Amino acid sequence: MKEKVSVGIDIGDSQVVTVIGHRAEGEAYPNIVGVGIHKGSGMRRGVVTDVEETVASISAAVEEAERMAGLPAEAVYVSVNGEHIAATNNKGLIAIPRSKEEIGHDDVLRVVETAQSVTVPANREILHVIPRMFMVDGQEGIKDPVGMTGSRLEVDAHVITGSTPFIKNLRRTVEQAGVAIAGFVLAPLAASKSVLTKKQKELGVVLIDIGAGTTGLVVFEEGDIYHSAVLPIGSDHITSDIAIGLRTSLDVAERVKVEYGMASPITLSDKDTIDLSKLDRDEEQEVSRRYLAEIIEARLQELFLMIKAELRKVGRDGMLPAGAILVGGGAKLPGIVESAKDNLGLPAQLGFPVELKGMIDKLDDPRYATAIGIMLWGMDDESEKTVFPTFDVSSVITRIKELFSK
Ligand SMILES: Nc1ncnc2c1ncn2[C@@H]1O[C@H](COP(=O)(O)OP(=O)(O)OP(=O)(O)O)[C@@H](O)[C@H]1O
Ligand SMILES: [Mg+2]
Repeated sequence: MKEKVSVGIDIGDSQVVTVIGHRAEGEAYPNIVGVGIHKGSGMRRGVVTDVEETVASISAAVEEAERMAGLPAEAVYVSVNGEHIAATNNKGLIAIPRSKEEIGHDDVLRVVETAQSVTVPANREILHVIPRMFMVDGQEGIKDPVGMTGSRLEVDAHVITGSTPFIKNLRRTVEQAGVAIAGFVLAPLAASKSVLTKKQKELGVVLIDIGAGTTGLVVFEEGDIYHSAVLPIGSDHITSDIAIGLRTSLDVAERVKVEYGMASPITLSDKDTIDLSKLDRDEEQEVSRRYLAEIIEARLQELFLMIKAELRKVGRDGMLPAGAILVGGGAKLPGIVESAKDNLGLPAQLGFPVELKGMIDKLDDPRYATAIGIMLWGMDDESEKTVFPTFDVSSVITRIKELFSK
């Protein structure tokens, strides 16, 4: 493996996270050498709604990570999210010329190309074309056809598209922040890269990324991606429900959710109360924790029902042996794993990003799965050839630890 630096930026609704990874020559895994986190993003449900705020948030998160790494973020991979995302499984087919003894890389590229030449509406563009399986002369289940002989090569590919105006806007906004884009990655797909194991993907699994404004999901089966979708509900909807239910500001509702919220009221009694004046001097009421949990439970049930419907749409409702893996800030709500099990009828657990060297404790959290996954995506992207000068990784790790202990 050649030395390489990869930069991932997760532009979420609630925050922008930049992760810089460095892989030393001969190493299989990168070290995390820079991290930048900026609260706020000027985004709403995956779409830029305040260009100035988004530009400033990206700049701040990138600069912080660059300072820590002592490296410039030259070509970055950026998350894409939002309800405008759509995905289908498409087939592609080519004839292999008789003169050819065996199928080559060029043929694979050609057949994948035909899989993306599906009719994409004028206002949409392709984000990912992921080959799931190849067929040679009708023989199914081939993972890599290079070197095989045959006259007819087919591919079954997962094609993910997004709305051109939204992507264009995002591109321009990131560029305005002075960052050159190497590629876009669908947010939950990036998260799947950092938390799912090969075994889970083989067995059949759904990764669920519960963010602030959206919930992304990606289904894997027999090792390959099978379905992906982004739903327009996130944990901020719970916050709004709490604000309405308790008649408080959104700020107080957010703090109540994070400090006292639970996914189910079962274990709570009405005598369990929260004194809101402790959170905000302007507040004076005492509220029941049980009532709070009932508000949260109702919204979570709606969310899991939507996920279940999405799984049913592709015939995988209750059919994924490795179950549901939950990531994103919304997955940090106590009791959510039980709620996922009950509502989805699947095993469930939280997903943590793979542990990488240089990883600070703060990143060992389901909330950072996407940002780390984007960096890993860039690391593995063969089309990206930038190689950076060697530098001392251990000194950077010390610097990161110092910064966070301050
Ligand atoms: N400890 C916690 N308990 C409950 N909810 C939490 C906790 N920490 C964060 N959240 C919620 O998680 C959400 C933020 O999660 P995350 O950072 O994954 O979102 P995002 O990536 O910014 O948004 P999106 O993916 O929708 O663009 C917020 O709604 C926040 O209230
Ligand atoms: Mg997110």
